[in-house]
Amino acid sequence: MKTQTLLLGQTLRFTGNPLSDPWEDTVRIDSDGAVLIEGAHIKAVGRAGDLRKAHPQATVKDYGDRLICPGFVDAHVHYPQTAIIASWGKRLIDWLNTYTFPEEMRLSDPEYARDIAGRYLDLTLANGTTTVCSFATIAPTSVDAIFEAAAARGQRVVAGKTCMDRNAPDGLRDTAQSAYDDSKALIDRWHDKGRASYAITPRFTPTSTPEQLAALGALWSERPGCLMQTHLSEQVDEIAWVKDLVPHARDYLDTYEEHGLVRDRAVFGHAIHLTPREIDRLADSGASVVHCPTSNTFIGSGLFDMAQIAARRIPIGLATDTGGGSSFSMLRTMAAAYEIGQLRGTPTHAAQLMWLATAGSARSLHLHDKIGTLAEGYEADISILDLASTPAIKQRSENAKNTWAQLFATIMMGDDRAISDVWVNGVRRG
Ligand code: GUN
Ligand code: ZN
Repeated sequence: MKTQTLLLGQTLRFTGNPLSDPWEDTVRIDSDGAVLIEGAHIKAVGRAGDLRKAHPQATVKDYGDRLICPGFVDAHVHYPQTAIIASWGKRLIDWLNTYTFPEEMRLSDPEYARDIAGRYLDLTLANGTTTVCSFATIAPTSVDAIFEAAAARGQRVVAGKTCMDRNAPDGLRDTAQSAYDDSKALIDRWHDKGRASYAITPRFTPTSTPEQLAALGALWSERPGCLMQTHLSEQVDEIAWVKDLVPHARDYLDTYEEHGLVRDRAVFGHAIHLTPREIDRLADSGASVVHCPTSNTFIGSGLFDMAQIAARRIPIGLATDTGGGSSFSMLRTMAAAYEIGQLRGTPTHAAQLMWLATAGSARSLHLHDKIGTLAEGYEADISILDLASTPAIKQRSENAKNTWAQLFATIMMGDDRAISDVWVNGVRRG
């Protein structure tokens, strides 16, 4: 008999997508809720009294009026950039050359990569994030480092070797052939092993030749169950550069499309400055986009048009984009998404923000049958939120008319102090 633990508290669960249907119809908060964990999975979600009676043998963990939520899913990060987060004053291309590439070079040392991977996962767990989808560096050992660190913590992680064969410094370039060979070997070593899954990872068109994109497109057709992650239309200067590099392309998305990289299971980070054709193509293809709001303001990229993308039913994930983003916290990231929505005149409800940070991100990564929701059969990745974690939030919470208003204050003002506890794969990580 597997161990059973009964978590008591307020529970937040989704029954639908609050970006496409009225939020009230897709989510519920039960003030007297309970989640039964059996081994690594959620066995039942219901009312505290009912589940206590039905499972008297379960160990009870009572969280009082804290909120029991799915663990956060951060759908686009660069774990190797942990140590250069919040570096001052550059825009995308200068930021990459000045801060990012030199730091990513350091991760060619496997020991340093292991150190950063462990540090990164500990920081994100402390912020209630249980799954990330990460770019590694060009070094295959940096992929091993993040998957090994995740396995040691029982975490579900998606990652891939970043491929770059042009416009990157010496020591940080591969080739079309070595990107293909190394990525293939890593897929065979890691994909679908335990909780690891692999994303084929060309960094972006400026750093991958057409030959490299073609090689990775060929690899993806040989290993179609993997994800493919890259960047799309983040900054205006970047888009102009792509136009120079690939003059025959109809637009930025086309530079991927011509190599078979636009389909279901493709995950495009940023996707801010899109043309109507790109939006149509994304909507037809089943590909996902990932909103990275703290990064978009920090690097000065622009205002993601969530309302338009959601209206086209393109799956949207939410992400910190560490270290272009300025925070490891998905609470802070939800706050930034709200602020960008306000600047666009489309405020997002707390239910929609929470969905983006959990089930929506899981959907964008094709993990929506495993994580992101409190429901029977799902993997037991759970975060417990304290809705009165600081004096400032507590006084606001006491003056709130319902739990949604309390949760919104924690989203806007909260940080790692709001994370009371984290469960990963049925194990309490605190
Ligand atoms: N575009 C290509 N590489 C990167 C990166 O590392 N961070 C961000 N924000 N954008 C990119
Ligand atoms: Zn990125």
